[in-house]
Amino acid sequence: MNNWNHNHILDLSTFSLDDYKTVLELTTRFKDVHKSSSRKLPALQGKLITNLFFEPSTRTRSSFELAAKRLSADVQNFSVSSSSLSKGETPLDTILTYISMGADILVIRHESTNVPADLANYVDTNNINISILNAGDGYHSHPSQGLLDLFTLASFFNPKEVSTNSLLKKKITIVGDILHSRVARSNLWALTACGADVTLCGPPSLLPDEFNDFVLNPPPGQKIDPVNKRGIVCIERSLKDALRNADAVMTLRIQKERMQQNMLTDLDTYHEQYGITHQSLKWCKKKAPVLHPGPVNREIEISSKLVEANSIKSKLIIFPSPILSQAKRPSLGSRLIT
Ligand code: NCD
Repeated sequence: MNNWNHNHILDLSTFSLDDYKTVLELTTRFKDVHKSSSRKLPALQGKLITNLFFEPSTRTRSSFELAAKRLSADVQNFSVSSSSLSKGETPLDTILTYISMGADILVIRHESTNVPADLANYVDTNNINISILNAGDGYHSHPSQGLLDLFTLASFFNPKEVSTNSLLKKKITIVGDILHSRVARSNLWALTACGADVTLCGPPSLLPDEFNDFVLNPPPGQKIDPVNKRGIVCIERSLKDALRNADAVMTLRIQKERMQQNMLTDLDTYHEQYGITHQSLKWCKKKAPVLHPGPVNREIEISSKLVEANSIKSKLIIFPSPILSQAKRPSLGSRLIT
């Protein structure tokens, strides 16, 4: 891990191409761990990892827990429903309680943007030696999912040599509720850093025109873009145009819980226009994989038939979960549906 200068992982906008290369190399080395007889490495022995999920999570929380256990760390899990928040404790006091128990890494998910960054700032200012890993904050960022999706795609495009190079000039189409998606934002940073061109597709209410410029400038508060030359981002309103010649497709959940009224008139029409189905996949390149971060809303962003056709062989492995259809399952990564 030479030249790794991220004490916290908050947002992929701060990752350089070398950072992505490091992650892919390391992940490739770890990928066989779950197949070995012990299924464990001592990499984090003696470390305490605390999973603080202030928002619901199935895949990300259990994947962080499993990854920590596979790397021999001790793990604590916090979830809102069984916590003292219902007795009036503030989230900060809850977090401080876990810090005082000696956590080395805090994995945090919160519905509000920037809570992980504020926490990182807090621990740095107070010289507390803890790393903060953002497991999803509001619409803003979901770096572990972005890294996982990058690994999944790089493994798919070149299983023999998993590298950022295999993303160069690939057309990746992301379809759906991009406005509310931290997964889409993290993927935009990761994929364009590796030279992939990203086509975004969705109705204007869920995909405002401003997304054309998403990776042109670093986010407020960040001075420079650590990547010299990024792939291009464009918006296509028609699914057929967006999928034409796509090397891979990512479809996103309609996030009803974050939606204001009148953003979508009718879910059946949405499915007709933007749903990923066996039929719409014919517009992509042959054998283009489909990724979905889960949880899936069947018959809305993806057809139930497509999920069913592929879900029989599905298996949850170390990290959260794209669906990968029409492809052989790469050796690590995800709930891959083949
Ligand atoms: C996503 C999330 O929570 O951002 N899921 C995940 O972490 N795998 C996507 C979603 O909620 O739709």
